[in-house]
Amino acid sequence: MALALSYLLSFLLLVLLLPYSTIAQTSKNQSLGSSLTAQNKDTYWASPSGDFAFGFQQIRKGGYLLAIWFNKISEKTIVWSANGDNLVPIGSKVELTKDGQFVLSDPTGKEIWKPGLVGTEVAYAAMLDSGNFVLASQDSRSSWQSFDNPTDTILPTQTMKKGSKLVAHYSEGNFSNGRFQFRLQMGGNLSLETIAFPLDSPNSDYWLSGTEGNGFQVVFNQSGSIYLTDINGSILQNITSSAGSTQDFYQRAVMEYDGVFIQYVYPKNSTNTSNIAGRWPMAWSSSTLMPPNVCLLAEDMGSGACGFNSYCKLRDNRRPECLCPRGYSFIDPDDVMKGCKQDFQPQSCDEANPETDQFELIEMPNVNWPKFDYAHFQGQTEDWCRKACLDDCFCSVVIFGSGHCWKKKNPLSNGMPEQNPSIGTKALIKIRKNSTLQCSRPGADSKNKVRSTLIIIVSVLLSSSVFLNLLFLFGFRFKFWKPNVLQLYPVIPGMNLRSFTYEELREATSGFKEELGSGAFATVYKGVLQSEDRYLVAVKRLNNRVREGDLEFNAEVSAIGRTNHRNLVQLLGFCNEGQHRLLVYEFMSNGSLASFLFGDSLPNWYQRIQIALGTARGLSYLHEECSSQIIHCDIKPQNILLDDSFTARISDFGLAKLLKLDQTRTTTGIRGTKGYVAPEWFRSMPVTIKVDVYSFGILLLELICCRKNFDAKEQEDLMILADWAYDCFKDMKLELLVANDEEAIHDMKRVEKYVMIAIWCIQEDPSLRPTMKKVVQMMEGAVEVSVPPGPSSFISSI
Ligand SMILES: *[C@@H]1O[C@H](CO)[C@@H](O)[C@H](O)[C@H]1NC(C)=O
Ligand SMILES: *[C@@H]1O[C@H](CO)[C@@H](O)[C@H](O)[C@H]1NC(C)=O
Ligand SMILES: *[C@@H]1O[C@H](CO)[C@@H](O)[C@H](O)[C@H]1NC(C)=O
Repeated sequence: MALALSYLLSFLLLVLLLPYSTIAQTSKNQSLGSSLTAQNKDTYWASPSGDFAFGFQQIRKGGYLLAIWFNKISEKTIVWSANGDNLVPIGSKVELTKDGQFVLSDPTGKEIWKPGLVGTEVAYAAMLDSGNFVLASQDSRSSWQSFDNPTDTILPTQTMKKGSKLVAHYSEGNFSNGRFQFRLQMGGNLSLETIAFPLDSPNSDYWLSGTEGNGFQVVFNQSGSIYLTDINGSILQNITSSAGSTQDFYQRAVMEYDGVFIQYVYPKNSTNTSNIAGRWPMAWSSSTLMPPNVCLLAEDMGSGACGFNSYCKLRDNRRPECLCPRGYSFIDPDDVMKGCKQDFQPQSCDEANPETDQFELIEMPNVNWPKFDYAHFQGQTEDWCRKACLDDCFCSVVIFGSGHCWKKKNPLSNGMPEQNPSIGTKALIKIRKNSTLQCSRPGADSKNKVRSTLIIIVSVLLSSSVFLNLLFLFGFRFKFWKPNVLQLYPVIPGMNLRSFTYEELREATSGFKEELGSGAFATVYKGVLQSEDRYLVAVKRLNNRVREGDLEFNAEVSAIGRTNHRNLVQLLGFCNEGQHRLLVYEFMSNGSLASFLFGDSLPNWYQRIQIALGTARGLSYLHEECSSQIIHCDIKPQNILLDDSFTARISDFGLAKLLKLDQTRTTTGIRGTKGYVAPEWFRSMPVTIKVDVYSFGILLLELICCRKNFDAKEQEDLMILADWAYDCFKDMKLELLVANDEEAIHDMKRVEKYVMIAIWCIQEDPSLRPTMKKVVQMMEGAVEVSVPPGPSSFISSI
């Protein structure tokens, strides 16, 4: 009773403390002296219909953007902004001064931004229903309007004159000017261009209207068509055409941060947008987009569509995906367009120690880095070409095809799909050998730790005599190994990964009799390996339809097989035969963390701490120590298994990639489980290792409190554990979280520390979440834990 009362009191307190919701002023025209101040909630002037608002939106903790946005839909999509590269703090003010000036200033009164006014003083300001914000003089003539000064978006009824441009944002959540622009040149050509970042001058164009001398203005007309006209208003070229009328659909066209110009529509009376938290990418359908394939963007100077040393792949939604070649990783996983770096020491150019034997060439099908060859040879064999690259310390990639051999050096630029795959050219990327064969073991000398993409490309091995040598060297060590011609290649040197036949696994599982669990993509069965002293295994059978392409399957499986850490479930072998894809793992005798945690009896606190630590260490290994960074994408108690000493063992890692689910963003394809899924899955933000950090944060809270993140049986304010835990933390009532848990109550300092770590992990802004390495350090006490901000202070502004 007393407990319930204190819950109630803390709830009431919370309600009282909650900031007032949105502060909107009336839609009348704003007269001299009016102002808006950045506050905890959006403050704005709405247009008469309420469709648009002008005001402050909080972008990240403490950072406000003066902007115009769609105000009637749950995602307050920004269409114009003033201070993208200079967010202002709370208390900043935009004011139409008594003397007719319009100024954005910070709380100290320092001027941050001011429109370039034309002509006379401003008499009033108005947010119009078209999305145009105007500053008008006494005679109602506009002295400034947002429609004449667009950022990255244009709206119906807006036009663009010669010289005006839409500049892409730097990234999805960063409103600074970025790397691409849509510009109507003074000469009359309309173009999509890369920018010589960090300057704002154009670098190269990747689409041109070819209307030099004739192009006059770009029109986004009332019916939702975008076209280029000449001076008489005749249409020279249609740019995009809408999928719906402006009566029924909100519309906008955006120069996106990844170089694609897209027109979006959004149903005005949509009721079903809130089921996926009302995110734009779900609701807007891209009706038209330019260019058709931005990945083919090739520059004479610059990196191409993606950063240096990376390559671009077009997703199903025709947006680009930037990827690193094998042996390379992102310079900044949160900013993938920044490019990739080599994960190994480059080859020595010392004549006395050429290191030729330390390197190997890995084949990358269907990728090319056109332009920038530094050497070209004709009439040569592939072996000659390979040797020429291995012997040359400058060579990082060699392209071979029809006797031609093109050498390329770092940084690689214009990485794109091979445009003419039929001609049989192949890219061979040079990487240091050891780096590709071993995942570094925990405790290995971290100074010399070389991270690199692990991969064995079977065809490379098959086509070189090295393979035969390796086979000779290692083959005999595989007591399982059966000389089966078709199954030859999956035996991977240096690794105890066994290739099973389907028949063997059917036998081991007695015809897939005892099911241990099943999910959307696979079913797991218990099995016994007769050949290995009745060794218990878990056999995971992947659904047939998920995957085709043997080569990739084997490559991914070898990457998973090469991981080795005491907090991971070890992969023992696999079967890739015809339509059958199976994975064979160690059997875990104590089941999953879910049954341990949410069972009938209260599990031991210290065991829970060990499980939390083990899980964090395993994840940190997958993210940072393993040569190919592995994002798990589905951390939840069902995927943490317990071995016979109750040590946490992460299972199912690598499957996201194996099943090609990692970048799928459709509602049905979202990998991960409700409640554990980081918010960026629902936005078109890059999915990075930070999604696992988020899920781990939720898992940690569940471990602390021994309850599920979502529990419909609880009172409303306690239903979502993450919210309740933050409330308890804020109100300094952490003991409520571990009520009835004597051991934890006597360890409150740790409870508090772990809750703080968990809150850091579940920050909405991925960049605020710590890395798993840091999480481990914090849990182990090597690093202090600072007071976390509220998890959702990032607000839904993106
Ligand atoms: C507000 O400003 C707009 C644009 O200048 C003008 O068309 C409209 O008449 C004004 N409304 C009022 C009530 O003054
Ligand atoms: C946005 O990106 C730019 C360019 O990298 C960077 O300088 C700036 O700090 C970023 N802004 C924010 C708010 O992260
Ligand atoms: C807009 O442009 C399209 C395509 O040129 C045309 O069919 C339509 O009639 C135009 N609508 C208006 C309102 O001008």
